[in-house]
Amino acid sequence: MSEQNGLPSHIAIIMDGNGRWASNRGLARVRGHIEGVKSVREITEECARRHIEQLTLYAFSSENWSRPRFEVAILMRLLRRYLIRELKTIMNNNIRFTVIGRIEGLPEDVQKEIATEIELSKNNTGMILCLALNYGGRTEIVDAARRLAQKVQEGKLRPEDINEETLKENMYTAGMRDPDLLIRTGGEMRVSNFLLWEISYTELWVTPVYWPDFRKEQLEEALRDYAARERRYGGILQ
Ligand code: IPE
Ligand code: IPE
Ligand code: MG
Repeated sequence: MSEQNGLPSHIAIIMDGNGRWASNRGLARVRGHIEGVKSVREITEECARRHIEQLTLYAFSSENWSRPRFEVAILMRLLRRYLIRELKTIMNNNIRFTVIGRIEGLPEDVQKEIATEIELSKNNTGMILCLALNYGGRTEIVDAARRLAQKVQEGKLRPEDINEETLKENMYTAGMRDPDLLIRTGGEMRVSNFLLWEISYTELWVTPVYWPDFRKEQLEEALRDYAARERRYGGILQ
């Protein structure tokens, strides 16, 4: 079964609206990112407490490099600090940490913290916390196609053996279940290149609330709405 008691097994979140949260208060955008880290902690702990199997957070997209250099630098610094500080949250909550995206494109000190976090939490048995970093949905599909082509060239795979399953096995999300619920904060009605392959039958929930204001109560509202939905996957209810 993919769910228990109407709860989604895998929740993915596009954490948007940090900049607007700050601008509305006359603050620099970076203050929104700093405040957003508090929401990450609260939502992570709440999902772990509710025995959600996986929480995937869109933290930095492959398109976010186009932001001013200063903002990118701050985001990378915050990310590193987050990884160091949140290790306690991860270990206290028995969380297994993982990442998706082109990690090799991140600053080396960030890559190092990621590796440490993955290693230290690898035997934890609770929720999987997956950060999407330097992540792009199209790039993910391109990378999977490349891996498959490589295998065909090496004679390890025949073109006729390529199907949805083999493609999935070559995605960053290999071995993970598809998200049941995708939450986007900040009100934009778009997916911004997030998990394009994986969300084909995911339930969407968009809230105008900016990410720094998205806390337990808002999550609960999304979960309530999700529980009342009917997932048909193209079929009809018998
Ligand atoms: C989301 O908030 C955080 C990242 C994309 C890193 P934004 O920085 O996009 O905030 P808005 O959308 O400009 O308000
Ligand atoms: C999506 O937010 C990316 C992350 C939350 C990391 P963006 O702010 O980058 O998306 P757009 O620009 O509104 O599509
Ligand atoms: Mg945004």
